[in-house]
Amino acid sequence: MPSPNPLLLDTGSPPIPEIQRWGSLYNGGGGPLLNMCQAVPSYPPAPGMLERLAIAAGDPATASYGPIMGNATLRQAYAGDLNRAYGGRIGAAEVAITAGCNQAYFVAMMALAGRGDAVLLPTPWYFNHRMVLDMLGVEPRPLPCRSGRGFVPDPEEAAALIDERVRAIVLVTPNNPTGAIYPPEVIARFHDLCRERGIWLVLDETYRDFLPVGQDRPHGLLAVEEWPENLLQLYSFSKSFAVPGHRLGAIGAPTALMPELGKVMDCVQICAARAGQAALTWGLDALDDWRAEKRAATQERIETVRAAFDRLPGWDLEALGAYFAYVRHPFGETSAWRVAEELATKHGLMCLPGPAFAGEEAHLRIAFANVDEAGIVAMEERLRAATP
Ligand SMILES: Cc1ncc(COP(=O)(O)O)c(C=O)c1O
Repeated sequence: MPSPNPLLLDTGSPPIPEIQRWGSLYNGGGGPLLNMCQAVPSYPPAPGMLERLAIAAGDPATASYGPIMGNATLRQAYAGDLNRAYGGRIGAAEVAITAGCNQAYFVAMMALAGRGDAVLLPTPWYFNHRMVLDMLGVEPRPLPCRSGRGFVPDPEEAAALIDERVRAIVLVTPNNPTGAIYPPEVIARFHDLCRERGIWLVLDETYRDFLPVGQDRPHGLLAVEEWPENLLQLYSFSKSFAVPGHRLGAIGAPTALMPELGKVMDCVQICAARAGQAALTWGLDALDDWRAEKRAATQERIETVRAAFDRLPGWDLEALGAYFAYVRHPFGETSAWRVAEELATKHGLMCLPGPAFAGEEAHLRIAFANVDEAGIVAMEERLRAATP
């Protein structure tokens, strides 16, 4: 076979299939396999959403191509949703609908950076963010986040890493993999830094709808009349509406950048899946209570996870939020890959090791949103059984 693009060969493979392979070797002795390696909601979409998806899928009109940047009605509804969440007056022209947030990120990076440029990514990072940069020949420049600072990145450390090659800083909040929620003032400082240095701030807010109850405004950057000129914001409908298979996300950007984003989007998606777009146009207005209920339930689950780790000697819960617990394992110098393998093959608990995110060997990411309350009880039992 002629060799493929070396940039693809040089990037790592997605880690989840490997963990799932380990899970398939588990003999079931400790109870059913627990999948806590992938961040997906453990519940189905709202019944009204499923009905509308079915109706839209049966309508010949949704089988045709749609506008590159998304249905006008959905863009309008999403802009309204943003304004409710952030207190701004953003218009439909400043947002576009993508085939999921991963694609929104790909589109953003293609639009902002080219071969030889660099982008600052706080570590531990979301591995797909690094992979995309590798594939584009863009240097993913790590900005280490430390447990002692709650895994919140430091704008001063970021400033020291910026040189003429850096085109953007990417922040994920609430964070994957750590669950850390960045304070609004830290996000504002990053935005100021990017403006001063003439680079972009890219905010991936996939988990925005899972902020703690009581924290309703993620940050103040979008409490504005017009989209800030150096900001891109990415969102996912996968988690918030429990529709990851329908592949829908969004990107917000200054209107002047939209034609460039549109070029990429035309090449990679032509348009986002249209049945889902139709159903979401309804869901964005109609499912506020449903979203609030899921947010409260996720919060309860967070407390259940916290209580479980309080009872587990040797396991230190170093960060917790949205869908994730980021924990220090009690196996000392043992590689986190090895620990994750043992947990999957011997105890039927699949989770991801810190190094999968360029994090430390001491850490594991446990995606608890993937299981129900009984699953968290089972997690505690399995971790106790595995404790040295
Ligand atoms: C930070 C982050 N961004 C993007 C995505 C991908 O979301 P989507 O399903 O909308 O592509 C995920 C999914 O796990 C994520 O954690």
